[in-house]
Amino acid sequence: MSKTRPEILPGTGDGINRAADLLRNGRLVAFPTETVYGLGGNALSDATVASIFEVKGRPSFNPLIIHFSDPASAAEHVEMSAMAHRLAEAFWPGPLTLVLPRAKSSAISLLASAGLDTLAIRIPANPIAQSLLRACNCPLAAPSANRSGSISPTTADHVARSLGADIAAILDDGPCTIGIESTVIGFMADDCVMLRPGGMVREDIEAITGRLLDPDSETTISSPGMLQRHYAPETPVFMNCVTPLQDSLVLAFGPVAGENFPTGSCNLSPTGNLNEAAANLFAMLRELDRAAPSAITVMPVPHHGLGVAINDRLVRAASNHDRYSRD
Ligand code: TXA
Ligand code: MG
Repeated sequence: MSKTRPEILPGTGDGINRAADLLRNGRLVAFPTETVYGLGGNALSDATVASIFEVKGRPSFNPLIIHFSDPASAAEHVEMSAMAHRLAEAFWPGPLTLVLPRAKSSAISLLASAGLDTLAIRIPANPIAQSLLRACNCPLAAPSANRSGSISPTTADHVARSLGADIAAILDDGPCTIGIESTVIGFMADDCVMLRPGGMVREDIEAITGRLLDPDSETTISSPGMLQRHYAPETPVFMNCVTPLQDSLVLAFGPVAGENFPTGSCNLSPTGNLNEAAANLFAMLRELDRAAPSAITVMPVPHHGLGVAINDRLVRAASNHDRYSRD
């Protein structure tokens, strides 16, 4: 594990080749996807996968997503059901992760799937991620490139601030276009389960699958990562407020009278656009947290489309001032 500054690599042919060399040599490289930056390592190497858990401070029971350049390579490692094929055809490459039974022949590190008999697989659409996956010629295990429990990174600078000293390089492609993690879907007999709301919205998935089940109430499978407090800034976060709390900064949404807000407040989308709000969410939470106010007042965000994933992350961020939900 390096303790020097990471190499910041441009998303050019040379930058991608350098990143691929490092990855082939077992090193960790943060890379852009359209959702968030991932902390990538060779998914076939136990030692490399172990170092991902160590650098992130991630509990070993929480499995990693495995990234492939194309659906055919991914399909070699899992048992694809007919429904999985239909989802893959409709949405890959893109912000959708499928949790499927691991193929017996798969050489993906068992550590990566944390002892489960399933693998979470994803084909990112970001062209730099695609080129990197082709250049390194191995699947990449990649959780979001942040310390476990803190806010996911949507720029190379976010990665450098949290993991910079412990990784070999960061491949920089500017801000992520979607800005919120992939939607994770699992399968239970004939049903599909929404394990994590994310960048692919429920309505689009349900157009293929029919009604998605929600974990806990209706299912026996879950996503281990969703049990934890997550996305938590240091500052207490309060959701669904219509007026600013005392000494707080505001995270607003939509056309509001922002001139009345304390200086340093942010608006996720002044026009009320949920795509823009998702892309701004993590960067604005970080910015507000750095200003260290007494609290972050979050205004209501509509609960449809990408708003579902935004509200999911905000609920987890808000759990940091609830002593009963601290881990
Ligand atoms: O957009 C994303 O998904 C980003 C980019 C880098 O691809 N990755 C990401 O990874 O968000 P991570 O590790 O932060 O979140 C992965 C989620 C966790 O909630 C984990 O528990 C779940 O996927 N997961 C992974 N493997 C699973 C499995 N076999 N069964 C159920 N859930 C799984
Ligand atoms: Mg994460």
